[in-house]
Amino acid sequence: MTSRLSSTPVARALLLPLALTLLSPTVRADRMPTVTPLPAYQQECASCHLAFAPGFLPAASWQRLMGQLDKHFGTDASLDAATQTSIAGWLQSHAGTYKRVTDTPAPQDRITLSPWFVRKHREVAAEVWKRPAVKSAANCSACHPQAEQGDFNEHRIRIPR
Ligand code: HEC
Ligand code: HEC
Repeated sequence: MTSRLSSTPVARALLLPLALTLLSPTVRADRMPTVTPLPAYQQECASCHLAFAPGFLPAASWQRLMGQLDKHFGTDASLDAATQTSIAGWLQSHAGTYKRVTDTPAPQDRITLSPWFVRKHREVAAEVWKRPAVKSAANCSACHPQAEQGDFNEHRIRIPR
């Protein structure tokens, strides 16, 4: 994978919330962000896995996910109604709008099954995903140590042994 890809729209669409605010349609990258990450999202949606950037999935996927939190990938991630509404609204307004995110459905509304994700990771061997230090493709920070900061640069990838 060449560094050229880091600047492709889809790579830019995948930055985590902090960085994403710089790229939201109404804000130019060279300006200060006007949208701040939602604290409730960090609190409620980053306890079992990292706070996936809203830009990773289209609005329809976030809507489905937020509508069935009691059946969330085999677990119960239910929230009180007010928190759910607030997070759902925030996700809707920051959902991925790049063509490759919106044009191709994400099976099971999973980032890790999205066609762009599969394409970007096709060189990762099946055995690697199962290593104890990785366990799941959704465990982004296992291989992208700065995933929390929205940094997926190929030069900083470390595949755990
Ligand atoms: C009680 C634990 C828990 C909480 C809280 C939780 N999740 Fe999850 N989430 C999971 C599990 C388990 C998976 C499946 C992970 C895997 O396959 O490795 C998952 C997967 C996901 C995925 C798909 C990841 C992929 O494979 O691409 C998304 C998106 C997601 N969660 C969003 C959210 C959002 C939004 C919230 C907050 C409203 C949230 N989660 C809160 C447990 C949780
Ligand atoms: C098992 C390790 C591993 C895990 C886990 C993993 N990745 Fe990756 N990722 C890679 C590797 C390796 C590449 C680069 C492949 C290449 O250069 O050919 C990559 C590339 C990427 C790229 C493209 C970077 C670029 O410059 O084009 C993005 C974006 C990305 N990953 C996001 C994610 C996200 C989001 C998650 C979690 C949902 C994740 N990755 C989980 C190993 C991993």
